[in-house]
Amino acid sequence: MDGNHWKELPRMETPRMWLRALRLEDSDDVYAYAANPRVAGGTAWEPHANRGVSQTVVEDIIRHYAMGAYFCWAIEDKRNRRVIGTCGFDGHWDLRDQRARLAYVLAQDYWGRGFMVEAAQRVLLFGFEQLGLHRVTARCLADNRQSERVLQKLGMTYEGMLWDHVRIKGRFRTVKFYGMLAHEFLAKASRNSAGEDFVLG
Ligand SMILES: CC(C)(COP(=O)(O)OP(=O)(O)OC[C@H]1O[C@@H](n2cnc3c(N)ncnc32)[C@H](O)[C@@H]1OP(=O)(O)O)[C@@H](O)C(=O)NCCC(=O)NCCS
Repeated sequence: MDGNHWKELPRMETPRMWLRALRLEDSDDVYAYAANPRVAGGTAWEPHANRGVSQTVVEDIIRHYAMGAYFCWAIEDKRNRRVIGTCGFDGHWDLRDQRARLAYVLAQDYWGRGFMVEAAQRVLLFGFEQLGLHRVTARCLADNRQSERVLQKLGMTYEGMLWDHVRIKGRFRTVKFYGMLAHEFLAKASRNSAGEDFVLG
């Protein structure tokens, strides 16, 4: 994997979305979903208390882009150009082991329409084909059924559960772990290259 090659986050397309770098002017869109306690409930972060928090988060991501090889895409709805979430590899990516961890969040008014599976399939394709990843992992809170379904629909394999593994918002929480190897993903991608249930942007 040649992470340093990726000085700029590539813009990618799926049927319904653009995946692109976050910009400062997206802060209001980020606030619109990240202030929602139901959205934050599946994550380790608190709901954003005000627009300033969202702006700081976006600034931090932009700072990481500038350092290179930071793969967090804004998800933009093609129809209205609104940023409705993010999807990408979080800080846990490892050049030596060619491994990265998938992470995502989506605005509540977009839930239940397969948006995240569509976005994450594109991100996985980039990771396996362009970054040369060997393995992608993901984790979710054990009671986050929505996120777990996304991982299952992506074709990831359940690898186990760690009891009270993290302390989030003052509570110990059990975490489920999923994983996928490059050959598993790429076999699935080529099987479905006709574009039925597996969409390559
Ligand atoms: C997890 C998340 C990204 C799922 O995205 P999505 O595009 O809605 O995913 P899907 O449309 O594939 O739906 C996944 C499952 O959620 C459930 N679901 C769908 N709409 C729902 C809704 N409005 N309310 C509650 N659950 C819903 C369904 O069980 C669905 O599974 P199914 O297709 O087998 O019926 C989104 O819910 C989210 O951002 N949640 C908050 C942040 C979060 O949890 N991030 C992940 C951290 S690990």
